Amino acid sequence: MKKAKVILVGNSHVGKTCLLCQFLDSSFQLEFQTTIAPDKSIKQLNLLNTDITLEIWDTAGQDNYAAANKIYMKKADIALIVYDITDKESFENLQNWYDRVIQINDKNKVIFGVAANKSDLFEKQVVNTEEGKKFSDSIDALFFETSAKDHGSVNKTFTGLAEKFIQQLIEKNKTKEENKENEKLEKNQEEEKNNENIILDQKTHNEKGKNTKIKKKC
Ligand code: GTP
Repeated sequence: MKKAKVILVGNSHVGKTCLLCQFLDSSFQLEFQTTIAPDKSIKQLNLLNTDITLEIWDTAGQDNYAAANKIYMKKADIALIVYDITDKESFENLQNWYDRVIQINDKNKVIFGVAANKSDLFEKQVVNTEEGKKFSDSIDALFFETSAKDHGSVNKTFTGLAEKFIQQLIEKNKTKEENKENEKLEKNQEEEKNNENIILDQKTHNEKGKNTKIKKKC
């Protein structure tokens, strides 16, 4: 069973908790209750023929919890950075959230996703999709348009990120196996070469012996 730590980050009110609730139990809450202490949720999935457990941490978007967030953001495998398409400031702060994540994680080891949330409120949209995609590309992230009211879009986001995680694991294992195979091949080739040298040495030795005998006879 594979395991991945997922963190949800982004400004307060962008919909992190709602996305998580929709993913976990297909529910949506309209009342807003800010996250104070990050909380861990577990979801088990089977993707690409692989059993995987997602350990999802919903962090607090309010700045006064930044220090506490740091602890929970460590050792992340997947980071979903969320903004609200009706809130420009939440979009402008994406870089800041990304920087916070890579400050305490190896950026090459984290799979990033950007969620343009509240897509159901398109009539109030102030950040267009292209801007969102552009930012997402700049940090090499997967881009998703989500509505916490729509299970399909939310499910696609979490499973898309988890599948990328699994694919990377498969690639890493493949490379490890290939390296092992190459090492084995090199070792075999070296042994074969050594054996050839021994045979050659013996042949030369025998030839020398013959020559010596002939010389003696003369
Ligand atoms: P913090 O816990 O303070 O970091 O906020 P958060 O990012 O977890 O936001 P939360 O999920 O609590 O949602 C904030 C408000 O936005 C709530 O009133 C939700 O009902 C609303 N909301 C969240 N997602 C959506 C969405 O996709 N569409 C609409 N229309 N409203 C949403």
